[in-house]
Amino acid sequence: MSVTYHRDGAVGIITIANPPVNAMSLAVRSGLMDAAAAFATDDQALSGVILCDGRTWVAGADISEFGKPPIQPFLPDVIDTIERLEKPVVAAFHGTALGGGLELALGAHARIAAPAARMGLPEVTLGLLPGAGGTQRVPRLAGLKAALEMITSARQVPASEAQELGLIDRIATGDLTQDAMAFARELAGSTPRRTGDLPTPDNDPALVADIKASLARKVPGQIAQARAVDAVVEGLGVPLAEGMAQERAKFQELMQTPQRAAMIHAFFSERAVAQLPEIADVKPRVFDRIGVIGGGTMGAGIAVSALLAGLDVTLIERDDAAAEKAAAGVAKILEGSVKRGKLRADKCDAILANSFRAAGDYAALAQADLIIEAVFEKMEVKEDVFTRLDAIAKPGAILATNTSYLDVNRIAAVTSRPQDVIGLHFFSPAHVMRLLEVVVADHTAPDVTATGFALARKLKKIAVRAGVCDGFIGNRILSHYRMAADAMVLDGASPYQIDRALTDFGFAMGPYAVSDLAGLDIGYFTRQRKAADLHPRDRVPVFADRLYEQGHLGRKSGQGYYIYDADSPNGRQDPALAGLLEQVRADLGITPRDFTDAEIVARYMAAMVNESARVVQDGIALRPLDVDVVLLNGYGFPRWRGGPLHWADHQGLASIVADIETFAETDDHYWQVAPLLRDLAQQGRSFAALNEGKPA
Ligand code: 3HC
Ligand code: NAI
Repeated sequence: MSVTYHRDGAVGIITIANPPVNAMSLAVRSGLMDAAAAFATDDQALSGVILCDGRTWVAGADISEFGKPPIQPFLPDVIDTIERLEKPVVAAFHGTALGGGLELALGAHARIAAPAARMGLPEVTLGLLPGAGGTQRVPRLAGLKAALEMITSARQVPASEAQELGLIDRIATGDLTQDAMAFARELAGSTPRRTGDLPTPDNDPALVADIKASLARKVPGQIAQARAVDAVVEGLGVPLAEGMAQERAKFQELMQTPQRAAMIHAFFSERAVAQLPEIADVKPRVFDRIGVIGGGTMGAGIAVSALLAGLDVTLIERDDAAAEKAAAGVAKILEGSVKRGKLRADKCDAILANSFRAAGDYAALAQADLIIEAVFEKMEVKEDVFTRLDAIAKPGAILATNTSYLDVNRIAAVTSRPQDVIGLHFFSPAHVMRLLEVVVADHTAPDVTATGFALARKLKKIAVRAGVCDGFIGNRILSHYRMAADAMVLDGASPYQIDRALTDFGFAMGPYAVSDLAGLDIGYFTRQRKAADLHPRDRVPVFADRLYEQGHLGRKSGQGYYIYDADSPNGRQDPALAGLLEQVRADLGITPRDFTDAEIVARYMAAMVNESARVVQDGIALRPLDVDVVLLNGYGFPRWRGGPLHWADHQGLASIVADIETFAETDDHYWQVAPLLRDLAQQGRSFAALNEGKPA
């Protein structure tokens, strides 16, 4: 039974039990209707309490039902039934009250929360708006401004703030159930206080206009946030039922949109990536003591990420002086977290004093459980580091490399224990970015892979399994679509137009702004490394080499494709770039042509989808959804488009194949349709079918 009713003295108790997160499935909605009826007709119950079993209060509507025909009783009606009860009911919640979960609590007549409880309306992150009264009841309790902020930001509010906002009445001081029952006993005999009967706040057109303008800047392209604002505003000054009807209509309209489908694909894919048959019953190794080698950009970020998760970290640099500098870098990042209010000052001091040390001698890693190497991206340096690690690491210690592109099998081969070697590819800045590619080499033991996934969970990151190849999943695909962008620049497009066309499409940044951030040296050295394998028909971005040779390394040198200075810390266009490009094209004998934004997007996306298909076909990614999760979380792909392969399904695979064939008319070396993409298109199948076809 998902919902039960019983009575304790004069208090009727409704308990929801639908693990793991008490989502409001059909069974829970029907169960709540039955339990509400049982409570209403139980003459000995003078007041009631709604509780949840397990780790959390209701985490929302059951997302797996979305996109299917809705079945009665509908959630708004269930909540209305509870609100209309003639005896007071207290919602008592712990964990997270999210979406429909918070809406259910607002339908009760009083609310008490455990001190650590949080609540929020995350619907916009699923391309939806709160559809069970959230846009109507939150403004009645918390006011217009707070309601609009909560609904459009999806922010989770802690219990103390929720109490200040008027969303909850009390915070439990002892046992939540006992405190809730005491609260219910106090309310026995009183008239239920129905949120829906409270007056709405007044409209504030200036505030609403401000919020809409800021949404247009912050979440361009997304429709749910603006629709949610409309739903709130249209509910002001009208009775609840009227507000609810228009909220429902907008909710159902959003439910039919590709944005909703894309964001729910992202939600479930981010959870499916952890479901790997190869580690299903495998116990991870212990990883309390972490070693990090190399305290540069990545090593420092990885160390901070581990420290913030409560792990013990020893960082090794080339010598004591470098170790001291790296330690200062780690301290600076942690202190930055203190300044931004993300970490308490005393906690920061305790971490630095007790859990962190930096040294110049590898011997300090003798007791480490898991060692992550983040030294220069050169095979000889990595081989030297792993040879030294093999000599000092304890038996069973995991030896991981953060390499971006290099062959993890070759790195493992210099050790006497390739079963303990794995790639753990973090993204920059490593203490912020949520993606972790777990690169499984030929001899990696399953419990080492399982430890990679367990580490990601501990660091609150999303791990995706990748196979060994140049660049694994993400960087391999990036290298490929980057070539399509560079070819367009060679043929006449401006890097600025390309960046703008792609940010208009929804990417967080365009490829040339990304280059400036990463450093133009990275691409330069990668091209040098691969120069020997170059095919005569490969097109080299000579303009990028020229910029590098001029010392334009991107943000770190103050100039790359863009100029960064005090007046334009986020970069402004460089008027000299056009001349450099003209010269390069002239040298190569290219007559430049114009590109429309639509063609730029079509070429960039076709390249991305084509290489993604090869990555799936080669088994580097287990399923299309693994590719989507990597691009969404590591490469700024717009979440509301679901990832490249979800997007490709939505576009229609045949149209992408047709695009590639058109592009191949002028370059049939680069533009070759990936066999998997061609097969799926010919069979009228989709990438989604492959997600379902494999264990997920
Ligand atoms: N519906 C269906 N399944 C859900 C779910 C939901 N609302 N929320 C979580 N799950 C599932 C997950 O898919 C996962 O399944 P799996 O184990 O098979 O992979 C399982 O529950 C556990 O979830 P997590 O791994 O995410 O567990 P965490 O402990 O890390 O996080 C959580 C818990 C914070 C509740 C997180 O799951 C979450 O944010 N859930 C979504 C909350 C949400 O978006 N609610 C709004 C729904 S829309 C709505 O309510 C519309 C309404 O206004 C009408
Ligand atoms: P970095 O140049 O900022 O830092 C490298 C550090 O390693 C330096 O501090 C150097 O002193 C130290 N080092 C070099 N040899 C060493 C040795 N033998 N023993 C101990 N320390 C040594 O480089 P970055 O950017 O941090 O990259 C490190 C690794 O992470 C590379 O393999 C890179 O490909 C990878 N990576 C980089 C990303 C990025 O965006 N910068 C993203 C993901 C991976």
